Amino acid sequence: MLTDIGTEELAHWEIIATLIFKIVDRATPEELIDAGMGPNYIQHGRDVYPNDAAGVPWTAAYIQAIEDPITNLHEDLAAEQKARTTYEHLINSTKDRGVIDTLSFLREREVVHFQRFGETLRMVQEHIDNIKHKR
Ligand SMILES: [Fe+2]
Repeated sequence: MLTDIGTEELAHWEIIATLIFKIVDRATPEELIDAGMGPNYIQHGRDVYPNDAAGVPWTAAYIQAIEDPITNLHEDLAAEQKARTTYEHLINSTKDRGVIDTLSFLREREVVHFQRFGETLRMVQEHIDNIKHKR
C-alpha cells in the first residue's frame, strides 16, 4: 500500500509539473509578472521549480518518519488531508476548466489515499493489539 501510494504521488508531481509548464510555457515575462510569478520568473525562468505558494522550496523535511507505524500513519493521514485542502484552494483560485479538472482528479486521489491509510492504520492497530493479547 505504501509503495502504491508513494509511486502515485510521484506521478502526481509529474502531472502538476506538466500542468504548470503548459500554463507558463508561452507566457511573456510581463504576463508572468502580472500573474504574480515575477519572483519565480526571475529566479527560475519558466522552469518548473518545486516550492510552495510563499516561494519556500520543497524540502525532505516535509516528510516525517519516527519509526512508530501508528505515528507515521497519522502523519500520512494528515498529509493527505492537507493535500486535499490545498487542491481545493487551488481549484478555488482559477476559472480554467482544464486546470480545475486536473486538480479535481488529484484532489479525489488524496481522498482515496486518506481512506487507504485509514484502513492500514486499523490493520496495524489490530496487529499490535493481537500481539499484546498473546503476551
Ligand atoms: Fe496522496
